Amino acid sequence: MTVERIRAWQPGEGARRATEAFRGAFGSEPDGVWSAPGRVNLIGEHTDYNGGLCLPIALPHRTYVALGITDDRTVRLVSAQEGGGAWAMPVAEVGPGAVDGWPGYAAGVAWAMAQAGATGAGSAGVPIGGFDAAVDSCVPYGAGLSSSAALECAVAVALDDVFDIGLAGSDHGRALLAQACIRAENEVAGAATGGMDQTAALRARDGHALLYDTRDGSVRHLPFDLGAHGLALLVIDTRAPHRLVDGQYARRRDTCNAAAAHLGVPTLREVDADALDDALAALDGELVTPAGATASPDVLRARTRHVVTEIARVEQFVELLAAGRVAEVGPLMDASHVSLRDDYEVSCPELDVAVEAARAAGALGARMTGGGFGGSAIALVRTTAVDDVAAAVAAAFDEHGFEAPATLVADAAGAAGRTV
Ligand code: GLA
Repeated sequence: MTVERIRAWQPGEGARRATEAFRGAFGSEPDGVWSAPGRVNLIGEHTDYNGGLCLPIALPHRTYVALGITDDRTVRLVSAQEGGGAWAMPVAEVGPGAVDGWPGYAAGVAWAMAQAGATGAGSAGVPIGGFDAAVDSCVPYGAGLSSSAALECAVAVALDDVFDIGLAGSDHGRALLAQACIRAENEVAGAATGGMDQTAALRARDGHALLYDTRDGSVRHLPFDLGAHGLALLVIDTRAPHRLVDGQYARRRDTCNAAAAHLGVPTLREVDADALDDALAALDGELVTPAGATASPDVLRARTRHVVTEIARVEQFVELLAAGRVAEVGPLMDASHVSLRDDYEVSCPELDVAVEAARAAGALGARMTGGGFGGSAIALVRTTAVDDVAAAVAAAFDEHGFEAPATLVADAAGAAGRTV
């Protein structure tokens, strides 16, 4: 069975496509083209809004944004993926509640960067004027590979450059740009996501996995060269519809906040894995969450157990990686999947079938990646087995009557920046 492989564009191709879209829509030349990658998370899922650890890599698949400053104080956007002509709004009107759909991710970044304190340099925001932008992307859309963060971060580095803000030149500045992108996503696009995706897109390094500690915002770059170990990371886009804005994600976040509050800690990161049983025992009553939902003790315990054990798995994964023993991380990936499926309840039949079929076909480990409820799974496989594992997953999907999956092989790529 042949399985679709999602190709990553070369930078020249991405730049050409975005430039042509720009010329077609606006009849002028852009000031440049910037791009930002999608990501896959190796391990550490649903930990980023719990003060925890996660370990993403940036994908070679990127979103390209051709952008040019204008003098009419209006944002104009077109997207090759979305079609439908140009979207436009005066810069001053962009903000929470004002923008529907995909433009919120792009225009929202301009709003967030202009907010007070966005540069970290004091109380003033940065002046963002009018601009035109055209977007094209080879990051699979809606596949749990952070196409939205790639869009935000490509716009962020473009605005940083054309308005001479100068944040993209340092890791500290990039962390501030990531904060602006997170605000755009949370407050303008209305998705209550954590921050791993934007951090990966802006702060990852080519050939490295990014250990992101969301408690203090620090990052560590760990060499990640699977090829040197005869291994590859197969990403399986299940094509099951994936929606983060539908309330389930926000509900998980709310439940975790409730559990932490009940335990008297700022976040579940502060629950020591060695003291997990005591913490679970202390979650003994039904309680009302910050958002006003009720959560049973069983649900609170299951969600807490996932977060605490998942953070411990990231630590173990990093130890193996640092010791050159990446071939041994498979069982941690498997355990992560079981925890996400049973305790966190964010998997779905397509993800479970992908993971099981990959393992049965010889993957060393496999798990869902990203927010879940659809999206993608990852499998650690011997380089020689990539095609067989992909074919086995496709055959299993066929047997279950699922839409055919698509795949890609993920090498750790570089962060957002100027392309031309
Ligand atoms: C989505 C969110 C991230 C993170 C993951 C789960 O991708 O955007 O912030 O919470 O889900 O790990």
